[in-house]
Amino acid sequence: MTMMGLLHSVALSTQFLLIFSSSLFTNCLTLNDSTTTHHHECHQHESNALLSFKQSFFISKSASYNTFSYPKTVSWIPTTDCCSWDGIECDELTGHVISIDLSSSQLYGSMDANSTLFSLVHLQSLDLSDNGFNHSQISARIAILKLDFPFINRLQLKVSTLQSLIQNSRRLEQLRLNFVTISSSLPHTLTNLTSLQKLSFCRCELHGEFPIGIFSLANLTYLNFAENRNLQGTLPASIGNLTNLAHLILEDNVFHGEIPRSLFGLENLVTLDLFSNFFEGRLALDMFLKLKMLNVLDLSFNKLSLFSQNRDVNVTILPPIQSLGLSGCNLNGEIPTWIMNLTALNSLGLSRNNLQGEIPYFFFRLENLTVLDLIHNIFEGQIELDMLSKLQKLTILSLGGGNKLYFLEGKNTSNVTIPSQIPFQKTSIH
Ligand SMILES: *[C@@H]1O[C@H](CO)[C@@H](O)[C@H](O)[C@H]1NC(C)=O
Ligand SMILES: *[C@@H]1O[C@H](CO)[C@@H](O)[C@H](O)[C@H]1NC(C)=O
Ligand SMILES: *[C@@H]1O[C@H](CO)[C@@H](O)[C@H](O)[C@H]1NC(C)=O
Ligand SMILES: *[C@@H]1O[C@H](CO)[C@@H](O)[C@H](O)[C@H]1NC(C)=O
Ligand SMILES: *[C@@H]1O[C@H](CO)[C@@H](O)[C@H](O)[C@H]1NC(C)=O
Ligand SMILES: *[C@@H]1O[C@H](CO)[C@@H](O)[C@H](O)[C@H]1NC(C)=O
Ligand SMILES: *[C@@H]1O[C@H](CO)[C@@H](O)[C@H](O)[C@H]1NC(C)=O
Ligand SMILES: *[C@@H]1O[C@H](CO)[C@@H](O)[C@H](O)[C@H]1NC(C)=O
Ligand SMILES: *[C@@H]1O[C@H](CO)[C@@H](O)[C@H](O)[C@H]1NC(C)=O
Ligand SMILES: *[C@@H]1O[C@H](CO)[C@@H](O)[C@H](O)[C@H]1NC(C)=O
Ligand SMILES: *[C@@H]1O[C@H](CO)[C@@H](O)[C@H](O)[C@H]1NC(C)=O
Repeated sequence: MTMMGLLHSVALSTQFLLIFSSSLFTNCLTLNDSTTTHHHECHQHESNALLSFKQSFFISKSASYNTFSYPKTVSWIPTTDCCSWDGIECDELTGHVISIDLSSSQLYGSMDANSTLFSLVHLQSLDLSDNGFNHSQISARIAILKLDFPFINRLQLKVSTLQSLIQNSRRLEQLRLNFVTISSSLPHTLTNLTSLQKLSFCRCELHGEFPIGIFSLANLTYLNFAENRNLQGTLPASIGNLTNLAHLILEDNVFHGEIPRSLFGLENLVTLDLFSNFFEGRLALDMFLKLKMLNVLDLSFNKLSLFSQNRDVNVTILPPIQSLGLSGCNLNGEIPTWIMNLTALNSLGLSRNNLQGEIPYFFFRLENLTVLDLIHNIFEGQIELDMLSKLQKLTILSLGGGNKLYFLEGKNTSNVTIPSQIPFQKTSIH
């Protein structure tokens, strides 16, 4: 069968949700950036507190989701200096424990409001992400890990425990509780922690109203509340005061209201991920080009109506965007041509809009494109297979659903290698 024949009989399609929620791994699994300093002997009561915390957990390999997980608490031995333990960092001058990173440490157990951990009043950073995970909740795609403990629970944290933590750890600058089940609303007392810089509560089953006061914490650089599904809230105009904010990740929640204009003044914003919420309003797409550091922009699947004022924009320097998600944003007309100048682009989602015209050839100049999702628009015309073959890194191509596109066999077609992982579906391309 010729390549053309093959392509005529299949539609190029995919499940958009799968593509874009893959950012979960980069968003929620903390990197191993633990630094240990041991210039000072640890305080005995802090050492004891950590040891009894350790004893309240079992170690189970399947309790963590990250394939690079390992049991950090194994190095916690009473006769040694706690400042040298894996995941522990002490203040160089006072010797007090200031940082605990037990992310992906294969801990299985639970934590109470009276946890000895809360006696560590000098704590500035706490990361308990990805422990005690319930493996029956992991999708088939990731469940390649051996499930030797299949009915494990995710680490649970009652809201009273969280409140106790907030009350006792006034100096917290970083708090990461990704994949820890909280199943409650966030305590408003969180806004009392005025030193906070990084907050990450990804997939914690948080619900209710997001404490708006969090957007008044002046030193914030990183906010990640992805995938809580029932967490609601709005972005206040005062978000424009958070001049150090670099990452705002609210993917897959029920935030609503308009995106405040003041947000476009956040010069240090690198990630703006509002995927799948209920943000609304009519907004010029070009506004986002003011965010000069922007690397990830995902506005897909809200109730936004985006428009492009100009096919060409009058900006001299475009942000270094690598991932652009504008699916389901009510975009009309032809694809803005400035997208072609986003040379670093590796993922582009424009599905489920009303974009029309031919597929611009400039896509084929974006050498790093791995995901191109144009499904469910009203594109028409032909695509030369020769051009497609220039996208050497393309793994997901999605063109079906409403588009009227034909493939043309070029002169060089016999040498064309179609990207290997196009998710083919046996339906017509029209
Ligand atoms: C994480 O850091 C610890 C301590 O520096 C090291 O022993 C371990 O091998 C690292 N793990 C990974 C996956 O890099
Ligand atoms: C902490 O409180 C729980 C009940 O909330 C109790 O069962 C447990 O024994 C207490 N632990 C300690 C160390 O006091
Ligand atoms: C693990 O999760 C599954 C699916 O949500 C649930 O049915 C099961 O009861 C959970 N296991 C435990 C021990 O909670
Ligand atoms: C903490 O926050 C609560 C509610 O936001 C507030 O009523 C209380 O005064 C705050 N406490 C301190 C010590 O700032
Ligand atoms: C915010 O950061 C600045 C600069 O690092 C620091 O001086 C200030 O104390 C911080 N504010 C709070 C409330 O921690
Ligand atoms: C924060 O932003 C709001 C609204 O943009 C503004 O009225 C207020 O003065 C700002 N507050 C500070 C402390 O800068
Ligand atoms: C483009 O922007 C520059 C500087 O911001 C301005 O001087 C110029 O008039 C603009 N051109 C158009 C066509 O809007
Ligand atoms: C896009 O690139 C073209 C050609 O390299 C250039 O002429 C044009 O000014 C660029 N536009 C923007 C908005 O960068
Ligand atoms: C494409 O990716 C490679 C490897 O990450 C990088 O070196 C190169 O600069 C990228 N190309 C563009 C145009 O950004
Ligand atoms: C066909 O392939 C050759 C060699 O790779 C190339 O030089 C030529 O430009 C191609 N022709 C077309 C029409 O793409
Ligand atoms: C196809 O590839 C073969 C071997 O790499 C080469 O000899 C031939 O010229 C190519 N055909 C075209 C049309 O480029």
